[in-house]
Amino acid sequence: MPFPISDPLKNTAPYAFAEVDKLVHALREQGVTPLDFGVGDPTEPTPEFIRKALQKGADIHATSGYPSYIGQKSFLQSACDYMQRRFGVDLDITTEITSNIGAKEAVFHFSLGHLNAGDLVIIPSPGYPPMRTGTRFCRAEIYSVGLFEENDFLIDYESIPKEIAERAKILWLNYPNSPTGKTASVEWYTGLIEWAQKYNIILACDEGCYIDIYFHGEKPHSILEITKKGVICFYSLSKRNNMTGYRIGFVCGDKELIDTFKKVKTNIDSGTPNFVQEAGRVALENDEHTEYMRQQYQQKKDMLLPALKKAGLPTPKGDATFYIWQKAPEGMTGVELAKKLLSPEIGIVTTPGAWISEEDSRTGKNPGEHYVRFALVAPLSDVEEAVKRLEKLQF
Ligand SMILES: Cc1ncc(COP(=O)(O)O)c(C=O)c1O
Repeated sequence: MPFPISDPLKNTAPYAFAEVDKLVHALREQGVTPLDFGVGDPTEPTPEFIRKALQKGADIHATSGYPSYIGQKSFLQSACDYMQRRFGVDLDITTEITSNIGAKEAVFHFSLGHLNAGDLVIIPSPGYPPMRTGTRFCRAEIYSVGLFEENDFLIDYESIPKEIAERAKILWLNYPNSPTGKTASVEWYTGLIEWAQKYNIILACDEGCYIDIYFHGEKPHSILEITKKGVICFYSLSKRNNMTGYRIGFVCGDKELIDTFKKVKTNIDSGTPNFVQEAGRVALENDEHTEYMRQQYQQKKDMLLPALKKAGLPTPKGDATFYIWQKAPEGMTGVELAKKLLSPEIGIVTTPGAWISEEDSRTGKNPGEHYVRFALVAPLSDVEEAVKRLEKLQF
């Protein structure tokens, strides 16, 4: 007899990026060398000075011991210094910041401190999946707001009905946005904050994953530049520092929200490993390697975008992140475009937009239906090869 499965798990679709991994595997089985623009996992090595700090960290913490639940002081200090240097935001190291084991767990677990069954949460679509799964595992309800091109991929918060706003406990947001690449301005954040405060909605901002992957010197803002009141922000070193495997980041903002989050985390995990924090500290103290990474992503964009245009695809928008949110040609869905790109003579793996989007609760439309996501994480040589293979395509 099968063992019982919880309702939230039963109602959770397979993790989209695990499905993308299967596509890569299937191409290999056909003897095709896949050019993988699917999962957003950088293929460049973690910078050497970070790896060295990790190795040294193992010796510094020769007696292992459990790490601190909230992060060691030296790591948190480097995160506070980073927030001050990058955004001019001052954080109280004891009350306004805590470490995480990567933003994925933090985004998922945050809901546990604030939601009860039947509560309502507003979540953008497309959006980072743990926002939804965390909400579902609390048996709370999701109101999806689609990120549509006609709204410049911003959350159209003014169109959210009053009765929904009155019920909502949390609104999730993610700018710079995966996958659209959109950034949010100070003016837009200011309007959103005013609206959220009117309804006492927590603003949970998954902003720190791609905030340092920007182009032409246009640095994205942190919402904390405007206020900390009712705002919590999730930061990750995964993409800023090519450290996806290290599992480290931090969470900062309103001290009441941080305090609740610390209580949740103390009951779930035992902190970020100390030697990983040693590596995280030096990574956050250094801005030079992030400049190098931006140049690499810019180079890849400069190669791929003209090739997509030449193939007859519409020019994507997007100011930041390493994603290209590519619209399919008129009359074609994102799944159809992704399939075409997967054909053996092209062998390009992307993520169909519909796989990472859910229907907008107001219109019933899936905002990802006509898109595919390219993650520019493949090595430069693969991007060059993709440009060549795209010459065989004409829409
Ligand atoms: C929007 C967004 N937020 C957060 C994360 C999580 O990063 P990590 O769990 O690796 O720190 C990702 C990773 O892909 C992401 O795309």
